[in-house]
Amino acid sequence: MTDVAIIAIDGPAGSGKSSVSKQAARALGYGYLDTGAAYRALAWHVLEQGADTADSAAVQTAASDFPYAISLDPDDYWVRVGDADVTDAIRDPRVSGAVSGVARVPEVRVQVNKLFRALAAASDRPGVIIEGRDITTVVAPDAPVRILLTAAPEVRAARRAAEVTEQDAAAVAAALHKRDASDSSVVDFLNAAPGVEVVDSTDLDFAQTVDAVLGVVHEKLENA
Ligand code: DC
Repeated sequence: MTDVAIIAIDGPAGSGKSSVSKQAARALGYGYLDTGAAYRALAWHVLEQGADTADSAAVQTAASDFPYAISLDPDDYWVRVGDADVTDAIRDPRVSGAVSGVARVPEVRVQVNKLFRALAAASDRPGVIIEGRDITTVVAPDAPVRILLTAAPEVRAARRAAEVTEQDAAAVAAALHKRDASDSSVVDFLNAAPGVEVVDSTDLDFAQTVDAVLGVVHEKLENA
């Protein structure tokens, strides 16, 4: 694709994908591209316009005028839509509840996938970790390193609940399972495609998971 080495990491919510990818990028001196942020920012943009993310025509209209920017620096992460810094706003439960509607519009996926490839190719670092749901299969199927990061559903729900302490764990688990079900009807991120390495973090802590990912990266890059 480019001279920039691409590491593709997919996985469901609560697998530790974002924090692990960010930490692995730091260790490697690579850029870090969070692709879910684009879907979230577009959902935020649709909601700002008073539209409904279940209305795919409204989503496409919003996508046609979407001044999106994201940092690929793992030590200085931010997300913007026009002049608005939406780094925190896109994690709001209101956005999390609406984002699947945006992610299921095929035209939107084509548009953002082009953007992801262009952002990674323009990186001034030797490589970029791109993290999402369809990176190993659609965005960068030729990447030299492709990883599916998984964890048991109850472990993922417990991790999410620990992040959002103001909500009760059962509600968090229900929301997570609902989003997984909705998202996996669009992209299969629960099963590894051929050639994709599985890293199961169910019984690993954060540092062990980062090490496991880095182990796969080094092994694959040495043999590439
Ligand atoms: O990883 P996340 O929770 O920030 O992702 C937000 C939403 O975007 C999620 O509902 C799935 C969707 N998504 C996707 O469909 N494809 C990607 N490459 C990344 C995220």
